[in-house]
Amino acid sequence: MSSTSATLNAPLPADLKRPCLILGVESSCDETGLALVQLPSEGEPRLLAHALHSQIDMHQAYGGVVPELASRDHIRRVVPLARQVLAESGQTLADIDVVAYTRGPGLAGALLVGAGMACALGTALNKPLLGVHHLEGHLLSPFLSVDPPEFPFVALLVSGGHTQLMRVDGVGRYEMLGETVDDAAGEAFDKSAKLMGLPYPGGPHLSRLAESGDPSSFDLPRPMLHSGNLDFSFAGLKTAVRTHLVRLGWLDRPDLLATPEAQPVLANLAASTQAAIVEVLVKKVLLALKSTGLKRVVVAGGVGANRLLRAQLDQACARRQIRVHYPEMHLCTDNGAMIALAAAMRIQSGQARLSTEPTFDVKPRWDLSSI
Ligand code: KG4
Ligand code: ZN
Repeated sequence: MSSTSATLNAPLPADLKRPCLILGVESSCDETGLALVQLPSEGEPRLLAHALHSQIDMHQAYGGVVPELASRDHIRRVVPLARQVLAESGQTLADIDVVAYTRGPGLAGALLVGAGMACALGTALNKPLLGVHHLEGHLLSPFLSVDPPEFPFVALLVSGGHTQLMRVDGVGRYEMLGETVDDAAGEAFDKSAKLMGLPYPGGPHLSRLAESGDPSSFDLPRPMLHSGNLDFSFAGLKTAVRTHLVRLGWLDRPDLLATPEAQPVLANLAASTQAAIVEVLVKKVLLALKSTGLKRVVVAGGVGANRLLRAQLDQACARRQIRVHYPEMHLCTDNGAMIALAAAMRIQSGQARLSTEPTFDVKPRWDLSSI
């Protein structure tokens, strides 16, 4: 992130001096993430430590996230994880200058745990709070990678709840180019995987199963591929997967889905599903690049960990002299590092709305282009 933008060295909010230490708290869904990011006197934010607890094992038995269980587990994890990042970075509570937390979007109860912890800590330490947009965290997470981007760029945000293409001209300068009209890409992976009898969250499982399958064996729709705009639709794909499983006689038959004979067919179906999702995502990214004239892409969110998406996007962009940036693999899914980083970049660019009031204010629904 060398000379990314002239705005990045704007004056700090009153009372805040560089270097400053930011604690980030993420609790919007099924991962509790804590991190410490330092904004040095000069230069770019540095990740000092981050710690994560994933609730996947707990929710797997239910085939999806159970909001009440998620909130209760965040409560159990948030303090030990905060202690862990302080110990790992050699910092103390007294060193923290800003407490940042995910304000939304996400599950209301889960968000309230992070917000409650942040408000309590901010009040006890007499330090300001900063509510961060979860998707801004994902969007800026590649700035922590070994190959950080520079503004401006096209961003493809692909998570369990969102599929959006944005034009990003700087911190806080986000223009929506297109988004899904129904299911998100991650949701398409998860719902198709569930139909195939795979565990939650289905994306990584489907992708692993797809490795031994033939992507051309099932004829699946590429929804809105030729719509001419930058919107997406994935609900029809899940329905098509369902129809194939009905035809095979395997729908809602976990006993049949688990047989050795079913495995190669399921691998083919998984490969075909993944190929359909990836083809649509890559084509729309190329269209967004063409319509904006930009030469740089950032991919963020959990589906950004998908290896086929990375390979196909890299290949298509290399041919067109377009640079592609990703978060480090372990920072693709939800984590506290991206929240602390987004807070640091907001502070650095003079756009942090710091608060000294513990308002416990969360926004389960929150549009990124509105911030
Ligand atoms: O960003 P994220 O951790 O949470 C949200 O903010 O939603 O994304 C989670 C989503 C899930 O739908 C999960 O199945 C998907 O990312 N995902 C993947 C892969 N890893 C995670 N989808 C496809 N391939 C993967 N390797
Ligand atoms: Zn997320």
